[in-house]
Amino acid sequence: MDRNDFDQQDPDPRPDESLPASVPGDPVVVSVCVTCKASEGALTGPAMFDAILLAKRERDTAVHVRRVQCLSVCKRPTTVAVSSSDGYTFLFGDLQPEGARAVMSFAESYRKSSYGLVPWRERADILRKGMVARLPPVRWSPEDGSAPK
Ligand code: FES
Repeated sequence: MDRNDFDQQDPDPRPDESLPASVPGDPVVVSVCVTCKASEGALTGPAMFDAILLAKRERDTAVHVRRVQCLSVCKRPTTVAVSSSDGYTFLFGDLQPEGARAVMSFAESYRKSSYGLVPWRERADILRKGMVARLPPVRWSPEDGSAPK
């Protein structure tokens, strides 16, 4: 591949052209803290990572799952983030492996939502309760700081 080939590539490929331009570009990434520990000291992160990877395989989704070490929410293990380069970043805590399918369902909704802002009604109860932070994307910066409608 030479420079001309590279220049002709779509810089922001979207797998589904029917989606609005405000949906986040791929990849949508689920970051699982593999260094989270329960209060008695047992590691909880690796089991959460395995469960989320299994849920991803069940759904056959393009969402990317990765290991990370510490999301600075250590008092609420296990922690997981859902983000993309140009969408919202969501941070969740208090998760158990049983919630892996809910995380993957959320990530799928994220891929189809404006700026990744998943509607409240599409969020599982454990994610509503476990919400730690919601950080707007850099490209969404209205004067009044409001969320996209
Ligand atoms: S070790 Fe998991 S958030 Fe810090």
